Parts: sequence; structure tokens; C-alpha cells
Amino acid sequence: MFSFDPYSPAVDADPFPFYKTLRDEYPAFWSKEANMWILSRYADIVTALNDWQTFSSAKGNLMTELPNRAGNTLGTTDPPRHDRLRGLIQHAFMRRNLESLSDPIREIARTVAAPLADQDQFDFITEFSSQFTVKVLWAVLGLPTGDEATAREKAVLMVQSDPATRTKGPEHLAAYQWMQDYAAQVIADRRKNPQDDLISQFSMAEIDGDRLDEREVLLTTTTLIMAGVESLAGFMSMFVYNLADHPEARRQCVANPALLPDAIEESLRFNTSAQRFRRCLQKDLELHGQKMKAGDFVCLAYGAGNRDERQFPNADIYDLARRPRGHLGFGGGVHACLGTMIARLAVKTAMEEFHKIVPDYRRAADQLPWIPSSTFRSPMRLDLVKIH
Ligand code: HEM
Repeated sequence: MFSFDPYSPAVDADPFPFYKTLRDEYPAFWSKEANMWILSRYADIVTALNDWQTFSSAKGNLMTELPNRAGNTLGTTDPPRHDRLRGLIQHAFMRRNLESLSDPIREIARTVAAPLADQDQFDFITEFSSQFTVKVLWAVLGLPTGDEATAREKAVLMVQSDPATRTKGPEHLAAYQWMQDYAAQVIADRRKNPQDDLISQFSMAEIDGDRLDEREVLLTTTTLIMAGVESLAGFMSMFVYNLADHPEARRQCVANPALLPDAIEESLRFNTSAQRFRRCLQKDLELHGQKMKAGDFVCLAYGAGNRDERQFPNADIYDLARRPRGHLGFGGGVHACLGTMIARLAVKTAMEEFHKIVPDYRRAADQLPWIPSSTFRSPMRLDLVKIH
């Protein structure tokens, strides 16, 4: 009897055979373990993303949601509230010229990559992707330096859940509280001393006299730290994991870094960190012969839709030349990721600098320890060995 448990180590280790069975045999599957429907076909996921009236985010979008988040953040509200929040936040984002971040991001990548020149084996996450990501995010958001390591640790804990209870444990909730307190302090400071950074801009962003209120600024900042730190570092780890396992693609990217953007898009499709998000049905729906009820939760398995042969021929092949249009690596519809431009720029720049110092490498271990999360899939450690 087929079952799909997004909390299980077997799914963490390799979700793709599960996804294939889901797509081919149970395209609308009730997972007892997750207590929700799983949609795995590309076309169904896109339909759901384009129909927020039926597939609402207002009850939360993480598979295991954090308390008080549903209904209060960009990712967990429906229009019109969502559009208002997004408009205000985008306004602040747009004031920051991406070009102006390009040189600082490269400088950060160079500094973090430099010590790797002397190491034959290292953990890509602690030695590179985490350090790089928090430094970039801190520069973009304007967070005070000195707290990066703790904040990264807390951001990673916030997206985890306890596989035994399938809920957030005390350590995950404490990390969430820490992050909110941290954000509150920074916001209070920026209100007194506004600077040229995103948090100062959120606090002041205004459209037609409308502003974010205190609670919205707080939750937006907390969410951006979580989304930024965990999504970006998690994806970078998966990108390097994919390149480590595909030597030909890796060599092409090292020889010709102009190929990195194509490699990044294909990684966002082929094997990425943001695997599954949640919606809540607002009305009864019959899909693939299954009767789904208003109030049921539905998982949109982006990682499964991205391997759907109906959309991407030879979907299980990592193909540098594919240029996958419409992949689900950044979600879609009204909730499509807000950080795409910065994420693409940061990963490309980081990898250009990383490859200058570490042009050839392989994974040190076959089996990886995965972060226990039903939403994201990225390793806790990713040991790489240099190939000389
Ligand atoms: C490669 C790195 C990243 C990946 C793979 C990623 C992925 C995603 C995905 C899949 C969603 C959709 C969630 C849903 O359907 O409910 C999303 C939403 C979001 N992301 Fe990202 N993200 C990345 C980086 C970032 C960064 C760097 C930021 C901010 C600085 C960011 C901010 C957001 C926000 C605010 C949303 C919610 C948008 C809304 O609901 O309107 N992300 N991201």
C-alpha cells in the first residue's frame, strides 16, 4: 500500500521515486501522515497557484506552520491584503538598485571563498554557503553585524519540525521567538536612526498614504530573514550538490561561467530546496476522482511538478541546455518568490568566486544528513573533497 510521509527519512533521502508514483498513480493523494492532499502534477499545481480564491494561503504556507504567522505575512495572506503588503514591500525592494549590490556581493564571496584555498576537504555549508548568505542578507536588510551566526542557527531551526510529533518542537518555537525579538530591536533602532537599508525603507514605505504597521514590519522582517537565509543557503547547497553529481555540467560551468545562470535555473527545476508548500481549500473540489472538502489542506509539491514528464521531457535528466521555462523552483502565481532577482545574482556571483578557488570537487559521502523539514530539503552538512 503506497504511502507518502513528507516527514520520513526515506522521502528526505530521495523523494523522486515517491513523486513519480504520486504523479502517475495518485495525482490527488490523501496523505494520512501529513493530514493533507498532495498535488504532484505540474498542470494541477499551476492551476492551484493561479486560483488563490480556491487555494488559500491565509491558513499558512509552510507544511508545518509557525504560530501566529498564518494570516499575517506576505506568504500567508490572500489578496487584497496580500497585494497591499506585497506592494509596500516591493516598493522598498525596488528602491534598492540590484546593480549597486553586485560589487559588495562579489567582495563577500571572495572573502568567504579565500580560506578554502588551503583546504582539501570542507563542509560547503559551514565554510561557505551559510557565511556568504548571512553576510549578503545582512548587507541587504541592513542588520547589525555580530549576530549573523546565531541568526543563521535560529533561521535553520525555524523551518524544522520534529519528525516524531510532526509539529514544531520547543526549540523551533524558541528560535522563532528569538528571531522576532531580534527583528523588533533592529526595527526600533532603525526608526530612531533611519539608514539606507531595507528595514528602514519598510518602516517608511508608503503608497497613497498607506504604510506597514508595527506588527507587519516585524513579521515581514522576521519572514525575510527566514526566507532569505534558509532559502538562499539551502538552494546554494542543493546547487553545488547537483554540480558535484554532474561532473560534465560542472566542468562546463567552471570553463565558461556564463553558463551558470542556465545551470541555476535547471537546478531550481531538477533538485531544489523549496520542495513543498501548503494551501487550504476554500470550497469543495473534485479532482482526479477524489472528493476534496472545503477546509482541507493541500500540499503543492513543487519538487514533484518540476519532474513531471508531461511538462519537461526527460525530466529526470539534469540538462544544462534545457532552460526550463515556468519551473516551480520559485513557486508561482500571486505568491511567486519576491527574492528571485537577488537570489539569482547572489548564487551566480558566489559560484563564480567559489569556482575560482575550488574548480573541481566531489562529494565526500554518499549519504547526507538532511534538515528535518517537511517544506524544505537541504543537507545539514555537505562535505566536499577537492579534485586536483
Ligand atoms: C534561491 C533562493 C530562494 C528560493 C529557492 C525561494 C523559493 C521561494 C518559493 C518556492 C516561494 C513560494 C512559497 C509559496 O508558494 O507559498 C517563495 C516565496 C517568497 N520568497 Fe523566496 N526563495 C529564495 C530566496 C528568497 C530571498 C533571498 C528572499 C528575500 C530576501 C525571498 C523572499 C520570499 C518572500 C517574501 C516570499 C513570499 C512572497 C509572497 O507570498 O508574495 N526568497 N520563495
